[in-house]
Amino acid sequence: MRISLITLFPEVLGLVQEIGVIGRAVQTGLCSVEAINVRDFALNEYGMVDDRPYGGGPGMVMRVEPLVAAIRAAKDRFRLQVERDGSQTDQGNKPLVVKTIAMSPQGRPLDTQMLTELLALDHLVLVAGRYEGIDERVNALEVDEEVSIGDYVLTGGELPALVLMDALVRRLPGVLGNQASLAEDSFEEGELDHPHYSRPPVFEGLSVPDVLMSGNHQAIAAWRANQRKERTQSRRPDLLRFNS
Ligand code: 6GU
Repeated sequence: MRISLITLFPEVLGLVQEIGVIGRAVQTGLCSVEAINVRDFALNEYGMVDDRPYGGGPGMVMRVEPLVAAIRAAKDRFRLQVERDGSQTDQGNKPLVVKTIAMSPQGRPLDTQMLTELLALDHLVLVAGRYEGIDERVNALEVDEEVSIGDYVLTGGELPALVLMDALVRRLPGVLGNQASLAEDSFEEGELDHPHYSRPPVFEGLSVPDVLMSGNHQAIAAWRANQRKERTQSRRPDLLRFNS
């Protein structure tokens, strides 16, 4: 999978490329990520990418022309690359599955269901807006869906885009060493995760639950299942309504 991030701050991608599980996935070619600088598609020599909102109000709006050009460049570039060198293939002549998502607090809340849908993509284009937002015609012309990561407002779409990328890339085949850890994730079964313990058996008076050191795998599984249920009931009862 190719992921293109359309942004005014391409340097944020460094974090993803260098750190941990996702960094390794990128470095070993399980997915490829690129940042496309909207400024490279600016309207003039001063690098203009934003403007005052029609109708008035505070702040600035990211203009339609640079964003649309950047998104189209991302799509064209990847398609040409695949056509030319047949990298990322197994495709044969099948058309690439491409989706463009704009990060926005007005979007559909990110969840496991959405990530499962996105796993099927060949190319994901993420648009990270700044300022008060992006010109709505970008959405009309080039964006398939708007996605939010929660009910709070951030100063830009870069961190949400990195959140989405992290959650998605860890689910690509071969990225996690132990695929079992995917199946046992919180939310995968509509429940929160159970607690975890490692050595030492006692720390500052707090003991590891006896059952976990009993060697009784059935009892351990039952205890964990019960912990997941109780935690979900007390912390996130909203999750249970979809579940039972
Ligand atoms: Cl996707 N963008 C911004 N700017 N703020 C957010 C968000 C996205 N999701 C939650 N808050």
